Amino acid sequence: MKKKNPFARLDRFFSIIEKTGLALTYGDVRLRTGYSETDPKDADISTHFSRNVPLKCPLVSAAMDTVTEAPMAIAMAMFGGLGIIHKALTAEEQASQVRRVKLHLNCLIEHPICVREDETIGEILARRQEKGHDFHSFPVLSTTGKIVGLLTRNDFDVCNSPKATAAQAMTPFEELVVAREETSVENAYEILRSNHKKILPLMNESRELTGMFVFSDLKRIMSGMLSQYNVDADGHLRVGAAIDVGPSELLRAEMLLQAGCDVIVVDKAHGDMRPVKDMLQDLKALKRKYPGRDVVAGNISEPESAVHLAKWGVDGIKIGQGPGSICTTRDVAGVGCPQVTAGFNCAKAVRGMGIPICLDGGITKSGDIPIALGIGASSVMMGLMLAGTDESPGEIKETKKGRVKVYRGMGSLPAMKESWAARARYRQGDTPKDKLVSEGVESVVPYKGAVIKILEKMAGGLRAGLGYVGASSILELQEKADLHWLSAAGQAESHPHDVSVTDETQ
Ligand code: IMP
Repeated sequence: MKKKNPFARLDRFFSIIEKTGLALTYGDVRLRTGYSETDPKDADISTHFSRNVPLKCPLVSAAMDTVTEAPMAIAMAMFGGLGIIHKALTAEEQASQVRRVKLHLNCLIEHPICVREDETIGEILARRQEKGHDFHSFPVLSTTGKIVGLLTRNDFDVCNSPKATAAQAMTPFEELVVAREETSVENAYEILRSNHKKILPLMNESRELTGMFVFSDLKRIMSGMLSQYNVDADGHLRVGAAIDVGPSELLRAEMLLQAGCDVIVVDKAHGDMRPVKDMLQDLKALKRKYPGRDVVAGNISEPESAVHLAKWGVDGIKIGQGPGSICTTRDVAGVGCPQVTAGFNCAKAVRGMGIPICLDGGITKSGDIPIALGIGASSVMMGLMLAGTDESPGEIKETKKGRVKVYRGMGSLPAMKESWAARARYRQGDTPKDKLVSEGVESVVPYKGAVIKILEKMAGGLRAGLGYVGASSILELQEKADLHWLSAAGQAESHPHDVSVTDETQ
């Protein structure tokens, strides 16, 4: 007996569209609603970015120099999503951004600032002020480097002479709670909590200081939201990073993997080409060295290209040629496919192969996300929606129209002039700067404050979508998804109309 096709509804819809020769994007379609027993807040929105990189929430931040560095990647992973650190950085800088994300939850202070037992309190306080330290806890070391005590805020407060030595003012070793260097975050939290202490020095067998935990950091990590974080098996936030192609980029990939990067994204404006094929081949040896780490490649927009990338061994595929808000590729080069048709065709081409699809670019409202996932994607990558937030790189500028931040395409002239990686994305790595052909624009977007507010709205809209369709998970959404194709009147009806909107939240 022939197996029932779980995606039959969408296949039927797109076979009709294909006959017209049209390609559709988010504004052209809406999901059909259906009988529902799904409470949006209970819907399971977990998916995958790539084979070995799960997401608790299918939101990914774009590898752009005005979107994703460590602060954005940290916020994304703490929301259950993922950030892809951009490549317009030196390999060392990019690896250090990756390390910052990986260590964020660690809260292990690997090299605590220490004082010597014979230093005076006056000297220590003067140095504290000079260096701008905002903490008052200093392990005290003997001249032979062994830990002999701890100076805490309390010790400073009760010390009545600046001439007293650290040894005289400190809490001595015998009264400290200390632990072995291999102590985990969970154990450290429990030790401090049960002993009512704020600082846990770690030491080796020779009583040498090897690190320190601070209770307030541990409490932040252990509290509530932890189950929502996207963390690896060691409890570190997950993070991805973009690379280009070629031998120098292979070295970059190795540095990123050494820094703990979970997924490397071979990030080209056109992913279906020989240099990408060769790069994916070269990356295979690295993948063997770092098992469990993934390689994603893109961007593409045609099903044949998806099949190529699958054959070349990718763990995830990124779709999007021309949908980006700052993108001029379609105008400049006359190529590309509207994102919903591109996403559906590519997802269908690799159906059943276990290769997650990420729809990159063109998301302008939360309602685009259930559509993207419904047609077969496992995640969406966003630039515009996340730009202009506290976590995106760049300064806030005061203008007559209010506070703004710069958001620019990596193929915009300013970005290409500044960075080889930006030029290389558009195959102009060797082009003289006065001959560059831009495929993107520089813009400003309103300053939006903390990115979590945006992420909450995006995830909330996705959950609402699942509720309307009657799906309790992304897979069920894909099985139940069917689309209406909107006329111009239907599109107009889909937004607020015939009113003057007065609240700014839309
Ligand atoms: P957005 O979310 O619609 O703003 O699109 C972001 C996506 O646009 C990125 O993730 C990139 O794939 C793509 N992109 C970034 N810079 C450029 C550019 O200069 N030209 C074309 N596409 C770009």
